[in-house]
Amino acid sequence: MIDKFNREINYLRVSITDRCNLRCQYCMPKEGVSLIGHQDILSYEEILRIVRISVGLGIIKVRVTGGEPLVRKDIVGFLRSLGRIEELRDISLTTNGILLEELAEDMFDAGIRRINVSLDSLLPERYRTITRVGDLDRVLRGILAVHRIGYAPIKINVVAIKGFNDDEIMDFARLTFEYPFQIRFIEYMPIGTAFLKNDFEYISNNVIIQTIQKTETLEPVSGHTNGAEGPARVYRIRGAVGEIGIISAISHGFCESCNRLRLTADGSLRTCLLSDEEVDLKGIMRAGCSDAELEKVIRNAILSKPQRSSTFCYEVNRKKCVRSMSAIGG
Ligand code: GTP
Ligand code: 5AD
Ligand code: SF4
Repeated sequence: MIDKFNREINYLRVSITDRCNLRCQYCMPKEGVSLIGHQDILSYEEILRIVRISVGLGIIKVRVTGGEPLVRKDIVGFLRSLGRIEELRDISLTTNGILLEELAEDMFDAGIRRINVSLDSLLPERYRTITRVGDLDRVLRGILAVHRIGYAPIKINVVAIKGFNDDEIMDFARLTFEYPFQIRFIEYMPIGTAFLKNDFEYISNNVIIQTIQKTETLEPVSGHTNGAEGPARVYRIRGAVGEIGIISAISHGFCESCNRLRLTADGSLRTCLLSDEEVDLKGIMRAGCSDAELEKVIRNAILSKPQRSSTFCYEVNRKKCVRSMSAIGG
């Protein structure tokens, strides 16, 4: 479906839980976020109904997110059911990797091929500090497992934070000489209460590019290798097998080409990551609406998708986007 600003909306990100087995400092405040009650989380059946109707409106890609999606019970069964929805061409998943080694085979059998893994440090102590509880070794084993099994593309998300991991930019970038991964440096976005309670500063992606270019030659990759347009600009270091992705939400917005809708874990449709305007789908579904009514609500939500977010400004955003990233799913 085409929205009012001539963008083709074909990608739905589905957060299936706001729960997470990590507590990343930039995502959750120390005391944790108040979790959504189980009865308020959409059931898999409800999610599948929304996906089916969205597919009728032109959605062809679904990315499953969290919180941490792999902590939800029977995730593999859910992925298998998603895979049975005809016309859905692309099902992918974003995970923190902690449970990946255990689930990688079953998810592959369920049809998942594209996977993004969040990893902000390659140093065990530092990884533990940023995630508060995470074990780096488990994540690395998970990434190697998906590589061995044959997932592709595998993208590694690195949220770049000043004074925290800027000295690891080259260590991450050099992984692309050995592995065919896309290492993506993401500018830290001003989202949720965790943002209000820390003083993390984003690193402009220009700095990342300049750092890599001090010793390596970066060449733009034309067209997307994964067949899915995304927020990343993609480069390759000369001689490398993998790629470098640059996600500059702050320094270069990409609203004009945004093709996404988001479904939050508690059943609201969110047409912009950084705007708290949401449409409650769970309420109307549980009140017994028909498929036609549900479709109309989703269609109207798409038509009201804002042209751009006014909130890529840190100061403005201190008052906006109060939802935590773990409930929206990134
Ligand atoms: P693919 O392009 O399908 O690989 O996925 P993706 O890059 O959209 O997914 P992922 O879950 O790995 O997200 C990576 C980063 O991009 C996260 O920090 C997201 O919050 C951010 N991101 C994804 N979509 C948007 C968007 O529409 N707007 C903004 N500002 N950031 C986004
Ligand atoms: N800014 C940018 N990226 C973020 N993520 C979580 N919070 C933020 C933020 N405030 C990333 C995670 C994960 C992806 C879905 O979003 O690291 O890789
Ligand atoms: Fe969990 Fe992802 Fe938030 Fe980290 S960023 S606490 S892995 S939801």
